[in-house]
Amino acid sequence: MHPVLIAPSLLSANFARLGEEAEAARVAGADMLHVDVMDGHFVPNLTLGPPIVRSLHKATSLPLDCHLMVEDPDALLEDFAAAGTRWLSVHLEACRHLHRTVARIRELGMSPGVALNPHTAVSLLEPILPELDFVLVMSVNPGFGGQRFIPAVLDKVRWLDHWRKAHGSALAIEIDGGITAETIGEARRAGVDWFVAGSAVYGKADYTAAVAALRAGAAE
Ligand code: DX5
Ligand code: ZN
Repeated sequence: MHPVLIAPSLLSANFARLGEEAEAARVAGADMLHVDVMDGHFVPNLTLGPPIVRSLHKATSLPLDCHLMVEDPDALLEDFAAAGTRWLSVHLEACRHLHRTVARIRELGMSPGVALNPHTAVSLLEPILPELDFVLVMSVNPGFGGQRFIPAVLDKVRWLDHWRKAHGSALAIEIDGGITAETIGEARRAGVDWFVAGSAVYGKADYTAAVAALRAGAAE
C-alpha cells in the first residue's frame, strides 16, 4: 500500500489570494496541491487555466496535481506541462483516444492519471491501466466543492486495489469529492492512497488542524 497523501483542493480556497493559499497548504502539512480546471462545458463551472498554474508553481514548492474537467484536454496538455504540472488527470468521459492522450502526457514529462465520473465503470480502464500512474475516482459529480460523498464508488477502489495487487503494479488510487475526517477512513480501507479535500481543508479556520484530522481519520 502507498502512504497516505493529502491533496487540498484549491477550489475551496480564497481565489483572490491563491498563491498564499497554496503555500498555506504546504505549511499545514499537505503533500500535494489539487488544482481543479473547469471549462464551463464538461462541468457547469469555470475556474482557471495554465497561466494561473504557472503562478502557483512559482508560489509554492508543493507538487501540482491538475485535474482537467474540460471537453478538449488534448489542446491543453503542452501548456499544463510548461506551467509546471507534476500529475495530470484527464476524464475518461472526455477522451476519444485516451491511449494517445495518456502517452502524450507522459511524453511531456508529467505523470498521467485518468479520472472517472461516479457513473463510469472502472473496467473500461482495464486495457490502459498499465500505462497510468494513477486513477482518480470521483466520489461526487464533478463541478463543485462541498458535495456529499458517494460511498458506492468505493467498489471501484476495491476493484483497482485488487487489480494492482494481482499485477504487481505501483498504480496509485486517488479519490476526490466529499472527503472529510469522517469519510476518509472508509476510503483508505478500500485502498485509496491520495485524498483530495477541498472544503475539509480550505473551509476550515485552521488548515494545520484540518490536515491532521484527515490523517488521523485515514489511520482509523
Ligand atoms: C469537484 C472537484 C473537487 C472539489 C472537491 O469537481 O474535482 O476537487 O474541490 O471538493 P470537496 O472536497 O469539498 O468535496
Ligand atoms: Zn478535483
